[in-house]
Amino acid sequence: MIKKILIGLLVALIVIQFIRPAKNNSGDVTKDITNLYPMSDSVKLVFDKACADCHTNNTKYPFYASIQPIGYWLADHVKDGKRHFNINEFAGYRIGKQNKKLEEVIEQIKEGEMPLPSYTLIHTEAKLTEAEKALISNWCQNIIDTIKATYPADSLKLKRPTKPEGAAK
Ligand code: HEC
Repeated sequence: MIKKILIGLLVALIVIQFIRPAKNNSGDVTKDITNLYPMSDSVKLVFDKACADCHTNNTKYPFYASIQPIGYWLADHVKDGKRHFNINEFAGYRIGKQNKKLEEVIEQIKEGEMPLPSYTLIHTEAKLTEAEKALISNWCQNIIDTIKATYPADSLKLKRPTKPEGAAK
């Protein structure tokens, strides 16, 4: 019985090696954040080394991404990360969303939630120093200040779709 289960698992493991998740390598930067907000080289360097793999349209894959199920797991992080915040799509966000996402970047960095700890475990160079955290946060804060000074507060409110009465959570 045990032997059959083990053989079954082994076969499954071999089969999934041939089913690969699509790679995030479109490289499309037509709506890049820098279209709206220029970045100094030092700010860009930090975003590139610590955030780009999960928050742009161009992931640099390590060799083990070709081994399943690790590849699925990485693809999931990239998909989820891009859905929340995509540096290469940022210029296409409405102004309220831009403002909110910049606030979130500051918060995530401050709380040490980004870059993901599972990422910095291997990509140790992506661990941010206090100086790097300050660099990114100040850059974001400057833009937030400009946005707030330019747009009326009302236009920065995010309109969330309201749930119909009595709908399940
Ligand atoms: C290994 C992949 C990975 C890396 C590297 C990474 N992130 Fe994320 N990020 C995610 C995932 C997955 C999510 C969505 C789930 C979550 O919030 O944990 C996310 C969410 C976010 C969000 C949205 C949070 C929210 O409340 O919606 C922001 C902002 C963010 N990341 C900023 C950054 C910044 C800035 C960096 C670099 C300093 C970074 N991330 C590095 C994977 C990553």
